[in-house]
Amino acid sequence: MNRGNYITITGHKGILGSQLMKLLSPEHEIQGLDLPENDLTDLKSARRAVLKFEPDIIFHTAAYTDVDGAESDIEKAFLVNSLATRNLALTAAEIDIPIVYFSTDFVFCGCNYSAPINEFQPAAPKGVYALSKWGGEEEIRRYQPKHYIIRTSWLYGAGGKNFVDTICKLASQRDSLNVINDQKGTPTFAADLAEETIRLADFAPYGTYHISGIGSCSWYEFAWEIVKLTGLHCKIYPISTWEYNSAAPRPAYSALDHLCLRNTIGDNMPHWRDSLKKYLEQTNRLK
Ligand SMILES: NC(=O)c1ccc[n+]([C@@H]2O[C@H](COP(=O)([O-])OP(=O)(O)OC[C@H]3O[C@@H](n4cnc5c(N)ncnc54)[C@H](OP(=O)(O)O)[C@@H]3O)[C@@H](O)[C@H]2O)c1
Repeated sequence: MNRGNYITITGHKGILGSQLMKLLSPEHEIQGLDLPENDLTDLKSARRAVLKFEPDIIFHTAAYTDVDGAESDIEKAFLVNSLATRNLALTAAEIDIPIVYFSTDFVFCGCNYSAPINEFQPAAPKGVYALSKWGGEEEIRRYQPKHYIIRTSWLYGAGGKNFVDTICKLASQRDSLNVINDQKGTPTFAADLAEETIRLADFAPYGTYHISGIGSCSWYEFAWEIVKLTGLHCKIYPISTWEYNSAAPRPAYSALDHLCLRNTIGDNMPHWRDSLKKYLEQTNRLK
């Protein structure tokens, strides 16, 4: 990328961080900051680590991503998603480098929307995870104007627990699965997001951007497509959010419109179905 040769990636062991690492490491010097070596909730050590490396840009993917766990682990969710983000924003501002922060479609509670939501529509986070990621957005805006806030959704890919791998595993062990059909959003392949993030951080004006797959589906439709493409013999039954009874509230509708991406660098993202096929092909699971 054109921003410079020295790049810090937080959460480089996770789904998105490992993809950024894979794309950037052949041609750049990368500093990865992740647990257990680096706990970004501690300002002094986070700052020290970043200042020592003197990066040209920070990609901040590290997060507490257990949406249901956050409901009982409230302090940890805010420490990691809001306070650690403040620590990095302050450090980026101190050395005058841009920071890229990843946020979530869950900042929209989904109650008021039925068409893809753009960057200028009001957020209304519900639940601890959503509130803590929103807190991170606010800290970034407050402390480092040179930022990209990228909201994404339903992320999957190598490097961590994700819906596609879970469905493949369960569908190979069971005859049937019940999957939620009254929450709609958009699956996003981490490799697509990583590629687009790098282009964005090279060319686009600072600000908030939505980057996800194109199209929308329910979790049930997503699971159905996974089973169809892999040829696994497992029936998928639709159930309601109420029947599933998870700890955290989730938006009923949170598909993202990429208004800013289209109208700044003119890019479009792939359809979620095409990306799913690509991921299954890459992992030798396509029928
Ligand atoms: N996954 C999704 O569906 C989704 C959807 C929308 C937005 N996002 C956002 O996208 C970004 C990337 O998500 P992801 O799914 O790639 O995350 P991930 O796979 O869960 O990876 C996050 C990484 O951050 C590390 N981490 C946690 N606490 C830390 C701390 N205090 N200091 C340093 N590192 C810490 C984690 O380590 P441990 O594993 O040891 O905790 C993990 O390696 C996050 O900001 C997330 O909120 C994700």
